Amino acid sequence: MKQEFLFNLSHPETDAFLEYKRKREPAFDFRSIPASSGVYGIHPYPAMFHFRVVRQLLSQFSSKSQWVFDPFMGSGVAAVESLIHQRHFIGYDINPLAVLIAKVRTTPLPRALLSRTLQHLIAHFPRIAPTPINFRNIHYWFDDATIEKLSQLRQAIFHLEDSAIRNFFLVSFAETVRRVSRTKYNEFKLLRKKQETSQDVLQTFQATSLRNIDLLTRFYRSHPASTSTVILQEQNILHNPPLENESIDLVLTSPPYGDSRTTVAYGQFSRLALQWLGIEERVDKTSLGSKACEITSDLPSPLLYHSLEKIEARDEKRAREVFAFYKDLLAAIRTIGAIVKPGGHVCFVVGNRRVKEIELPTDKISADFFESVGFTHLQTIVRAISNKRMPSENSPSNVKGKKSSTMRYEYIVVLQKQ
Ligand SMILES: C[S@@+](CC[C@H](N)C(=O)[O-])C[C@H]1O[C@@H](n2cnc3c(N)ncnc32)[C@H](O)[C@@H]1O
Repeated sequence: MKQEFLFNLSHPETDAFLEYKRKREPAFDFRSIPASSGVYGIHPYPAMFHFRVVRQLLSQFSSKSQWVFDPFMGSGVAAVESLIHQRHFIGYDINPLAVLIAKVRTTPLPRALLSRTLQHLIAHFPRIAPTPINFRNIHYWFDDATIEKLSQLRQAIFHLEDSAIRNFFLVSFAETVRRVSRTKYNEFKLLRKKQETSQDVLQTFQATSLRNIDLLTRFYRSHPASTSTVILQEQNILHNPPLENESIDLVLTSPPYGDSRTTVAYGQFSRLALQWLGIEERVDKTSLGSKACEITSDLPSPLLYHSLEKIEARDEKRAREVFAFYKDLLAAIRTIGAIVKPGGHVCFVVGNRRVKEIELPTDKISADFFESVGFTHLQTIVRAISNKRMPSENSPSNVKGKKSSTMRYEYIVVLQKQ
């Protein structure tokens, strides 16, 4: 009820809301289907695509055997959908945990082999000598007994020879790390639980692995994988990606909503798991908008400057941070734009966040940016997003306890290269 009320308040059908070729499409909401169904339930990931949206866009804007590119692929929803719908796929992300999850979700494996390996791990890992592990604050997040067991389990998984099997169990391990730590499981940021709850490592790992085996094998039984090529890489889109110009038919992607400090901190979300895997976490330091800069007047979107002026009047530093994000977003769009074939499409899925209570129309700004590099803005599909998928309320004013509603809609900006 409350949710409906808030949606009505936003008046998505009014003329002002529908400018810039926005079209409210309830058929894209898929509110009765959880985004984490099937293989997408393997390891949570913040702001994951809804697979039904991806499926719909793939069928509308690409055909079999064409190349699809997601430069911000996260947990690989577009990769899986491309694989089962006979599209070739290239995906990048700066987050090594995202790349690992995406690899596991796109690799069908036999149930019997996974079950046998799980039994082997469970039987053998308690006998393995724990290897010393240390990272900053390890004792803040884990108790001693948990550290010892995680260290043994990690070692046992590292010993698995087959890389696909090893990756599968590393993802179950990553989920286990999160569950047995003192972090609040459902928060994207690293926040410590108030009360101690001890979750057993063995039981948690076993239950997680069994669930993941079930999710993976059932999914690929009902959605057989095609023989198309899937390339998944840890790569920053801003750092000269090794892709040929005019080689991609469809870019289907969802960039971060803003800088990592005030929106989703993908690095924080992944840090403990990556530390246990021995990988340094640099995601939040390299994400879009992570480098401070001065505001210049050369970005091709008057609307951006209109919003920036209002933010600047309230907080100059925040205005500079917002600018740094859009400057990087434009750099990413220039690179992406060059890679698309003439006549090819881009579906750019964004959320419009608020800073200092000013809404930033990222869908319109992105459309301006793409038009400046030779694209035609065809339409912006507006879909409602469920509360579970993104935090629906936050405190953009950073006043403790003060909340304002934000991002009740997602915008799918559809563009075509001339
Ligand atoms: C909104 S999420 C994408 C979620 C994805 N659509 C899914 O289904 O899981 C944005 C992603 O962009 C990644 N990212 C941020 N800056 C990046 C950059 N410069 N190059 C590549 N990936 C980046 C983040 O690590 C994050 O995984």
